[in-house]
Amino acid sequence: MTFQKNILCIGAGYVGGPSMAMIACKCPQYQITVVDIDPKRIAAWNSDTLPIYEPGLDEIVKEVRGRNLFFSTQIEQGIQKADIIFVSVNTPTKTFGAGAGMAADLQYWERTALQIREVSQSPKIIVEKSTLPVKTALAMERILTATDNGVRFDVLSNPEFMAEGTGVRDLESPDRVLIGSRETPEGLRARDELVEIYANWVPRERIITSNIWSSELSKLVSNAFLAQRISSINAISSLCERTDADVTEVARAVGMDHRLGDKFLNASIGFGGSCFKKDILNLVYLCRQYGLDEVADYWEGVVRINDYQKERFILNMLGAMFNTLAGKRICLFGFAFKADTGDTRESPAISVSRRLVEERAELVITDPQALPNAERDLADIREGISFVEDPCEAAAGCDAIAVITEWDLYASLEFKKIYETMRKPAFIFDGRNILDHESLFRIGFNVFPIGKPPLTHF
Ligand code: UDX
Ligand code: ADP
Repeated sequence: MTFQKNILCIGAGYVGGPSMAMIACKCPQYQITVVDIDPKRIAAWNSDTLPIYEPGLDEIVKEVRGRNLFFSTQIEQGIQKADIIFVSVNTPTKTFGAGAGMAADLQYWERTALQIREVSQSPKIIVEKSTLPVKTALAMERILTATDNGVRFDVLSNPEFMAEGTGVRDLESPDRVLIGSRETPEGLRARDELVEIYANWVPRERIITSNIWSSELSKLVSNAFLAQRISSINAISSLCERTDADVTEVARAVGMDHRLGDKFLNASIGFGGSCFKKDILNLVYLCRQYGLDEVADYWEGVVRINDYQKERFILNMLGAMFNTLAGKRICLFGFAFKADTGDTRESPAISVSRRLVEERAELVITDPQALPNAERDLADIREGISFVEDPCEAAAGCDAIAVITEWDLYASLEFKKIYETMRKPAFIFDGRNILDHESLFRIGFNVFPIGKPPLTHF
């Protein structure tokens, strides 16, 4: 069969894998190849156990793999064949040199740009899907056109807005698809080609276009606004705890104002994930570079409140458990940064675990999807930490349960039975407010929610 277009995606991660699977599913007329430098990742994409857990993804991949979706390590061959190349390599925060801890580390991204330039023999549209600091598309264009090998490249920005855990639904029915391009005739032609791909399943009015820089900035700003809402409600949760107000009641009253809306107002132990912190720090770095220190300080506050919320959780545990955690056994319910994913990047569970170990507590960690990642994240402090799949087994013999991830299954456990197997006094710290606090209290637990008065027997 001959395909209408050859599409390549460089980077088979949380973004590249699912987004290409969706294009393949909706557009059987295109051939899509996803390549990666990591042969183990590619092998996993070609196996029955995909490298990431995302509800609904297995079914889609099974349907299209070998039909018009292929996973491969042959990057150069892929580049040569492709008409359109999506770049979704990872862009973690820099850990060294200028901008360390703030700016994006662009080494993987630059290596990809150089490789595309070296091996391309025919014109290509390059689509940036990785989250990158504003104006990196321009840098990509500069790298690609630095040597005149006669090949034409058009660079577009097409940020991915899907969230993990709901990735398939978000990709199938996105709120919007944003495409940034140069406003030259060639740039607009390239843009239209990408619009045509999405128009196979996304209503036209939801495909919006802009200049490249607006598109890049929109991604950073969207994530900054979402994270800001969580830090706002979390900041209020600390006030609620001091004043006997209930943060859930406050959030409901606030969210019913249609100008504000009721989404993203769940007080929590703090936000995690690969995007929020990284994107805000990128934004902060960018503002500082342009001398906008007040603006940078404002956004940095969102990250500061998030760190404060995680530390507050630990201090609340310490205070409640008579100011010592040494030798106490604490069970973490959940390690993923949110429910319905096995991803643990920037999960609050990581810093909470490290702090609890610092306080010399023993940890038992349970999670339905994230235990392999948890073991990797805590490899350097593994002693004294056990990993147990079954939550009831994990809690047995513990002094406290701390809910870190809002997995549905935790709300329907038989807590009466769990209580009987725990040391007394038994504590529950509900970092997600997903449990029935009153009934836990009646069973005998001392219950510490987020942003609500605690329910204690002493
Ligand atoms: C986010 C953006 O939502 C998405 O648009 C972008 O493409 C990538 O970054 P993601 O990080 O996958 O997606 O998950 P999201 O649902 O945004 O949750 C991020 C964190 O915030 C999680 O730790 C979650 O538990 C937390 N959260 C979310 C809260 O603490 N309270 C809320 O009300 C909502
Ligand atoms: P994201 O959440 O942004 O998708 P991931 O870390 O899940 O990030 O995925 C990024 C993928 O990009 C990884 O699988 C990594 O091996 C791959 N990658 C990084 N650099 C290159 C490169 N130069 N060529 C091909 N793949 C790369």
